[in-house]
Amino acid sequence: METTFKQLEQIIINRRNISASLMNGIIIEDDKINKILALANWAPTHAHTEPWRFIVYNHLSKQSFCDAHAAMYQQHTPEENFILATYEKLQYMADKASHIVIAYVKRGDNVKIPAIEETVATSIAIQNFLLGAYTLNIAVHFTTGGMTHKQPMKDYFNLNHEDTILGIFYLGYTNEEKTGKRVSGIDTKVVWR
Ligand SMILES: Cc1cc2nc3c(=O)[nH]c(=O)nc-3n(C[C@H](O)[C@H](O)[C@H](O)COP(=O)(O)O)c2cc1C
Repeated sequence: METTFKQLEQIIINRRNISASLMNGIIIEDDKINKILALANWAPTHAHTEPWRFIVYNHLSKQSFCDAHAAMYQQHTPEENFILATYEKLQYMADKASHIVIAYVKRGDNVKIPAIEETVATSIAIQNFLLGAYTLNIAVHFTTGGMTHKQPMKDYFNLNHEDTILGIFYLGYTNEEKTGKRVSGIDTKVVWR
């Protein structure tokens, strides 16, 4: 039991967010992506609404998303706010990545389950996915940049008004080592009464 805790602790503490620019271009097998998505499906879920959804692009299709994302940014950004560097970043973001996964909450029709609970369930599913990726040596760049939270992105994926995109994940392999940090220890965030 102690060993299991230590292993889980090691996985949780050592998982890192790795910039897509630090990936090395090596392709991940689709099967590995399916394996980590299968872990996402075991997130807790109130009333079994299982609201997590994932859209996956592999190395053959990833550029279609990047092109669309950059075009969406250009089309929906007033000229005076448009930044060419942002446009180019979105367009070339996956150059060294292998896959892109978009995670969203599919709002169910069980009105007894508040939307926040479906967001919680999907967030946990994402953590399962991130931890699974780490154990397969897959680097992940979690981002909510660009058009992630904007309506045109939802429209692009034909999502309903109540659905919510929680993040865009660029997956790949990396040669970088990254150490983690937390600003404060858990003792500053916990009160025992
Ligand atoms: C909701 C959410 C949104 C995030 N958005 C971004 C982002 O837009 N760009 C980015 O580089 N990292 C993003 N991150 C990743 C954080 O920067 C990263 O988790 C944080 O720096 C801590 O590093 P670690 O995950 O390696 O421990 C996001 C994380 C969360 C939970």
